[in-house]
This record gives sequence, C-alpha cells and structure tokens, in this order.
Amino acid sequence: MRQIEAVSMRWPLLIKPNFMQTEYIISTEQGDINGTPLRQQYMDTLDEQTRHFIEEDARYFMHQALSTPVMNVLTRTEGAYIYDLNGKKYLDLHGNGVHNAGFSNPHVIEAVIAQLRSRLAFTPRRYTNIPVIRLAKRLVELTPKGLDRVLFCPGGSEAIEMALALAKQVTGRWKTISYWDSYHGNGFQAASVGGEEHFTTGQGPMIPGAHHVEFPNYYRNPWGLPEKDQDAIDRQYLRQIEVILLRNPDVAAILGEPISSTPVVPSRTYWQEVRNLCDRHGILLLFDEIIEGFGRTGKWFACEHYVTPDVLVLGKSLGGGVVPFAGIVAAERYNVLQHRSIGHFTHEKNPLCAAAGLAEIEAIEADKLVANAAVLGDYLLQGLQALQERYPLIGHVAGKGLHIGVDLVSDPVSKERAIREAEQIMYDCMQQGIALKVIEGNILTMRPALCITRDECNWILDALEKALARVVRA
Ligand SMILES: Cc1ncc(COP(=O)(O)O)c(C=O)c1O
Repeated sequence: MRQIEAVSMRWPLLIKPNFMQTEYIISTEQGDINGTPLRQQYMDTLDEQTRHFIEEDARYFMHQALSTPVMNVLTRTEGAYIYDLNGKKYLDLHGNGVHNAGFSNPHVIEAVIAQLRSRLAFTPRRYTNIPVIRLAKRLVELTPKGLDRVLFCPGGSEAIEMALALAKQVTGRWKTISYWDSYHGNGFQAASVGGEEHFTTGQGPMIPGAHHVEFPNYYRNPWGLPEKDQDAIDRQYLRQIEVILLRNPDVAAILGEPISSTPVVPSRTYWQEVRNLCDRHGILLLFDEIIEGFGRTGKWFACEHYVTPDVLVLGKSLGGGVVPFAGIVAAERYNVLQHRSIGHFTHEKNPLCAAAGLAEIEAIEADKLVANAAVLGDYLLQGLQALQERYPLIGHVAGKGLHIGVDLVSDPVSKERAIREAEQIMYDCMQQGIALKVIEGNILTMRPALCITRDECNWILDALEKALARVVRA
C-alpha cells in the first residue's frame, strides 16, 4: 500500500493519520470527507445505538472517503426530509439528486407497488412492456423538440457512457472534450471524462483522447476579469475548446452539465457558441442532466435555459427516488446503430423502473413542482444574497431554480476558499436539522426536494444565518 494517496496540488489537503498504519492525503474537491476532526466531533454527539450501527456498517463495508464510515443511520426518507434512528428529522438539501418529487412520494410508491402486484417486474431482453414504452414516449414529449430516441440503463455513469459510445460510433471519431472539476460517474470512461482526480488517481492511464477544459466561472475566472464582463470571460473559456479543436480533428463529443453541480451558471452566449462549434466541426453536444433534469432548475430540463443538445443524459430522479434508472434521449438522426448494441443492459427495459419514472413525472406535473422550483429558487437565492451583504464570509451565491451554491471565502478579495468554516457550518446546520453537502471544499450546495415550501426556505436561511454568526464569532 502506498504511503501517500491522491495528492492534489490544486485543492486544499486534509490529512487523515494512522488509517491502517497508512497516512492518506485526500483532496476535498468532491466535498466533505469523512476523516476530519470535525466529523469526529459530530460523531461524538450521536447516541450509543446510532454509533453502534455506524460501527457495524464500517465493519462490513469497504471504506471510502465520501461514504463509509457514514455520518448517521436513517430509518425513513419522506418528502423533503430524512429521519434518523432517534426520529430526528433533517431537511435534506442534497438527496443525491433522486428526490425531486420528494422522497417516498406516495404516487410513486403506489405505482411501484401496483407494478409489483401486476406480476410484471422484469422483462427479459428481446421483449418489451407497456410501462417502458409509455415512459420513453413521455420523455420524448417532455424533452425539447428534436430529441426523439430513448435508451435506458441502470445508472447515470452507464448512461454517460452510452452517450459517449453513441457519439463515437456515429462520428467515427474517438476523442472527447469535457470539463475539469465535473463528475459524470464512477465507471472507467465516465471517470475519464470527469474532471476530478479523486476518481482517477491510482488507476493507471485513463481512457485516451479525453481532453478537458475549464467550465466558465465568472466569479472565479483565472484572468482576474471583473465578474460582470461575461463576454470577455466567455471568450477566454471558449478559446480553450477552440485550441483543442484546432489540433484535434477527431473530436466526437463535447460533454458538460448545462449548469455545473457547484453550481456555476454559464451565460446563454457560452452554450450557444459551444453549440455553434459543435455544428461547425460535426461534433455531438452531450448534456449531463442527471442532477439538473426533471425540474431542478425551474424548467423541465436545464438545457431549456440554453440550447438543445444532440443527446440529453438523465438519471437519478428518473427512478422516482426508489429504484436506480437512467438513460439518454437523442436526436432522431443518430438512430443509425442497428448493427451495434451500445445499451446492452439486463435492466434496459425494466417495467418496475419505468413505472417509478412515469409516476415521478406525473407527481412533478400534478404538484406543479417545476414552477415551485423556479419561484422558491428565486426566493432562496435572494435571501442568500441578502445574507451575503451581512456576512463577508459569503463570497458568492449562484444558482438556477432549486440548484444553488454558496461559495464561502476567508478573504473576499483573494477569494481564498473557506474550507474549515464551510465544514463547521455544515455540521452546525446538521445540528439544527438542515442536512447540507459541501462541494469543492468550501461551497455549500442546496438542492432540496422540489416540494419544499416558503416556510422551509425561511428555515434554511435562518439556520444558515445562525451558523454563520457562530462561525464568525468563533
Ligand atoms: C452530474 C452527474 N452525472 C453522473 C452521475 C453518475 O450517476 P450514477 O451515480 O447514477 O452512476 C452523477 C452522480 O452523482 C452526477 O451527479
């Protein structure tokens, strides 16, 4: 076993000593990790029974920096909330992105139970079933015009790889451009196009031909340009793509999230220009909406804020928050692979998953959750901007719909990332019943279920203000 693992010079480092006699250094690029002194302090506040099950979990599962050992034991996930062993409930602002219609949405649960009762919970390959046809049809109707062909698979990482395989097959090229700091899944190809060393270091060479560029970030642009000069900043970021294209005629696809997970919200011009570059060079534009699809950004799909991609990649809430399911929706002109199988999965037409997906869409429609995300997203964003005026620790607030990030800085001028403070605030909010996730070490991400209320938004703002005040005082 090597002595030093996963060293990143770009990200602040945390050292976890003496784990199986090995000293690990783990970068915080993905978010909060489970080996810090503050995590230990938080664990110490938990009761004996909870600690017992956490130890059992840690005894049998392989340890991983972003999951095991875990932070708590859940007994229920319902609506916008998760509940621990003691019945304490937390408003969950993370939900791994599966909870757009709320956890355990009653309509989804009923649909899944009915599907199980119907004795059609699986169809072997070479057969189809009515729920999966209905879901494919519904997705073609819901997604922007021009996206007409569907393939399903169990998980988001696989869906990303189907999209990449499609792009490579139809163009006959093999290179890709994607973004540093992005996450597209844990599979080998998905991790290769992802931009985080956490998922690649230590595995030898990744997929060749996977080029990366920086995602347009106006607040943290590396040229020191004023944030409001979006056009000038866009030009610099677009140039990174153009330089690669100049020297690589064999690029099959550009893959990105329309809005990054952080989130950073690019200008419309940026994606229009990328779309133009793709059209000019015969490249497919692939949008990963595994987090942003299904209403998260205040539109059914985040691409509706920008341009229509050639392939839209969906996942997470597509499984209704109860089963794993993901897929792609692609333009009709790419339905040309009758001689290949890029989506050869055991569960590619699973009727149970399809029933969950259909019910999720129905629940989002019935409860008008897309509009709720737009309205309450604006409300939360404004509340956070008001907090920013009172707390210089908040360097920047960004987002669209209920997809918001709060960038904490220890110095508003240098924009140095306030890593420790972000972690303190996260645990403080946990104590107050608000479950947050930190990304890139210092950004508090807020992605609640789309069914939250204005009162709950006020509670988030209030809890955050209390936590900020305590950290500032300390
Ligand atoms: C933006 C994005 N793409 C892809 C994935 C991978 O999805 P899955 O975990 O279902 O493989 C994730 C998962 O977190 C994600 O957030």
